[in-house]
Amino acid sequence: MSERLTSSPKDVAHAGDLIGAGALVAFPTETVYGLGADARNGRAVAQIYQAKGRPSFNPLIVHVAHANVAREFGKWSETAQTLADAFWPGPLSLVLPLRKNTGLSELVTAGLESVAIRVPAGDLAQDLLAAFNGPIAAPSANPSGRISPTTAEHVLAGLDNKIAAVLDGGPCAVGLESTIVGLTGAPTLLRAGGVPREAIEAVLGHPLKDPEGSAISAPGQLESHYAPEARVRLNAETWAHDERTLGFGQMECDLNLSETADLIEAAANLFGHLHRLDAMGGAKIAVAPIPQTGLGAAINDRLKRAAAPR
Ligand code: TXA
Ligand code: MG
Repeated sequence: MSERLTSSPKDVAHAGDLIGAGALVAFPTETVYGLGADARNGRAVAQIYQAKGRPSFNPLIVHVAHANVAREFGKWSETAQTLADAFWPGPLSLVLPLRKNTGLSELVTAGLESVAIRVPAGDLAQDLLAAFNGPIAAPSANPSGRISPTTAEHVLAGLDNKIAAVLDGGPCAVGLESTIVGLTGAPTLLRAGGVPREAIEAVLGHPLKDPEGSAISAPGQLESHYAPEARVRLNAETWAHDERTLGFGQMECDLNLSETADLIEAAANLFGHLHRLDAMGGAKIAVAPIPQTGLGAAINDRLKRAAAPR
């Protein structure tokens, strides 16, 4: 059974320790309950996807205590400062160009060169960030395909036994996910949410752009994904001499997703290994078969996209 924790300092400290130890803790923000993990721990982040039963890896929002921490992970700009001054802490996420060597797990950004960050306004979220003293990756704390939870009861109805604990802070004040604004180019409204578009446009002094083409296929669903430069061949039973090779289980290969065939480890390594194989140069990457069970479904989904003709 998942532990149910209160807002007492002792419980909050315990929740911070659990996250530090690589466990999952659901916690209230002002928008909805998030399913939190240490954003620098790939195995912990992989378990978020496992607990939610997400069939694919969508990048996650990194929660930080203050805009100064956000600047360590994302490249900052005058616009970012303006929006942070106006709306943080609060229900606004900013997608910023990712800095190098941030220590964030590549699974958090799903291998992209941008990162979504926000400073939540909820007291308990801030207390947890202080107790853990690091970045917390958190999607909404619901099983994949279900609606976002706004009470601890909702969280446990969907995720009991799949997470270490839930911090119970009562119902969320906003009850709607954060607004997401992309700042990798001209300011773009990527997802409507807790901060109205008009309020953001008033602060900026100009309209927000809408995502181009089919960039967003469904609310909050990202369609463009990290794809390596090299051509990718899947379910390879043997390697060709001109291929960079990505293994799974005991085998000879350039890089191995998991020698012990552990799908959580494989998920944590997926984007990093693809980046590293791509950086080795060469036109082709071959990937060993990955079982379609558990996190394997999401791994295979991403590999299929990486292998799709471009
Ligand atoms: O209010 C919220 O935002 C809640 C609370 C827990 O903070 N979180 C939340 O997370 O709604 P989630 O995972 O359900 O939605 C995150 C959205 C996804 O649609 C994802 O595509 C988008 O953020 N996202 C994350 N990183 C991105 C990036 N680098 N570029 C574009 N979109 C990104
Ligand atoms: Mg969600």
